[in-house]
Amino acid sequence: MERFYITTPIYYVNAKPHIGTAYTSIACDCMARFLRMDNYDVRFLSGTDEHGQKVEKSANTAGIAPQEFVDKNAKYFEDLLKKLKITNHDFIRTTEERHKKAAQAFWQCLEEKGYIYLDKYAGWYSVRDEAYYNEDELIDGKAPTGAEVEWVEEESYFFKLSEFQKPLLEFYVKHPEFIAPQSRRNEVLSFVKGGLKDLSISRTTFSWGIPVPGNDKHVMYVWLDALVNYLSAIGYPDEDKYNRNWPADIHIVGKDILRFHAVYWPAFLMAAELEIPTRVFAHGWLTNEGEKISKSLGNVIDPHEVVDKYGLDQIRYYLMREIPFGNDGDFSHERVVTRINSDLANNIGNLAQRTLSIIYKNLDGTIPQYKGFTNTDKTLLTFSFNRAVEVKRQIMVNQSFNKALEAINEIAAQANTYIDEQAPWKLRKTDEQRFKTVMYVLVELIRRIGILLQPFTPDAATKLLDQMNIAQDTRGFLHLSVAHNIKPGHAIQEPEGIFPRMEVDS
Ligand code: MSP
Repeated sequence: MERFYITTPIYYVNAKPHIGTAYTSIACDCMARFLRMDNYDVRFLSGTDEHGQKVEKSANTAGIAPQEFVDKNAKYFEDLLKKLKITNHDFIRTTEERHKKAAQAFWQCLEEKGYIYLDKYAGWYSVRDEAYYNEDELIDGKAPTGAEVEWVEEESYFFKLSEFQKPLLEFYVKHPEFIAPQSRRNEVLSFVKGGLKDLSISRTTFSWGIPVPGNDKHVMYVWLDALVNYLSAIGYPDEDKYNRNWPADIHIVGKDILRFHAVYWPAFLMAAELEIPTRVFAHGWLTNEGEKISKSLGNVIDPHEVVDKYGLDQIRYYLMREIPFGNDGDFSHERVVTRINSDLANNIGNLAQRTLSIIYKNLDGTIPQYKGFTNTDKTLLTFSFNRAVEVKRQIMVNQSFNKALEAINEIAAQANTYIDEQAPWKLRKTDEQRFKTVMYVLVELIRRIGILLQPFTPDAATKLLDQMNIAQDTRGFLHLSVAHNIKPGHAIQEPEGIFPRMEVDS
């Protein structure tokens, strides 16, 4: 079995999870579920980023000790992942011993190889972004992200990032698929072409971090600490362990943290003589009804609330279908309801319910014997198979989850046109054999749709496949091939709607 290692970013625990947390996690989960369905041996990691000044400040404001604060907050993230049915195999917290040891070992490795030196940092720092900024990057005295910055002057260890400008540029050229989407790749390239300064990788003015080996006055810069999570969770520095899963196949991250993953991280890895992940995909940011989401605007979306309101499958579906993955997108009540009704209820749900009810009521709940497919039947069956291949391509090659779902919807739309044109309710009275063949084609298309929907709307897809009595071990991508077509004589259960319509309220 081929291995595949996929990761979410690890989430800051200074505040509760928000819709951005849910968005990244759901995207990774859809990919992980697809991979498993396609017979990969999947490592899927998520976790929490618990050190740094931002978290320490929030703990102080809350009036509790940082460790107690992070223990309490990390739980909100674990709970959310459970609620969203995220299938991560492990959850790493950077305050765990296994991580602290790994981060220190990684530091020592960089030091031994001669990439760390002690000096003094004088410059701007944004606690919100946990990032250093150059004077010329500031806009009206603030970080380009709009975050406040403060002047920092302290003794600091530096990583020789400047030595990696050339190797990084060579790497990007040699591996054009490393950064996606393309527009983001160009941004990273021009950033690196603009020159790289050595990076400050330790702090002395606060203590909530991993101590620098051999110098307790310093704690590691939170981003160096955080990035190492991808290694510590798979057993670094134990070579026998981590080698089995390294390099990661994909890090899925938000656009705001691409620079850390596509510049600093590969440079650290090159310095440590470790392999570089195959791909970093940066998705866009969500707005709430067209407005930037921020605590000060008070328009933060609570993922628990929207899942309770619309349903888990529905939210997963909306986020993956509505927004082209990689672009910014909007969370809009009206759009959510429209998607639920037009795609899930009217297109897919209605097709399944109509077809399975006819089979249940008029064919004793048994898949009929077909005879002589017409060209229309054959074209439709082939079309659905080709769309399934397209689903795979869009997920695996492009991470275009929206296009994958578009392809699934196209199968359902074609099937709905077919059912209307063939009018099986009439055929039942006029041409029984043709009636049976049409129903066979339809139910086979629904089986394929059910299989393809599993990564995106796992509950509804399971319900659909269960109703059809499709065996658990025949729900893989492989089972979409003709050899596994549903067999005449196979019995189904009484169908129940899988995607209810949603009434439009305010
Ligand atoms: N702790 C770092 C990541 C370290 S990874 C080694 C971090 N954490 S975060 O909690 O602030 O952000 C986590 C993810 O949520 C990021 O990928 C970020 O892009 C995403 N989002 C935060 N707000 C978002 C939206 N409004 N919309 C979509 N995603 C956004 O960064």
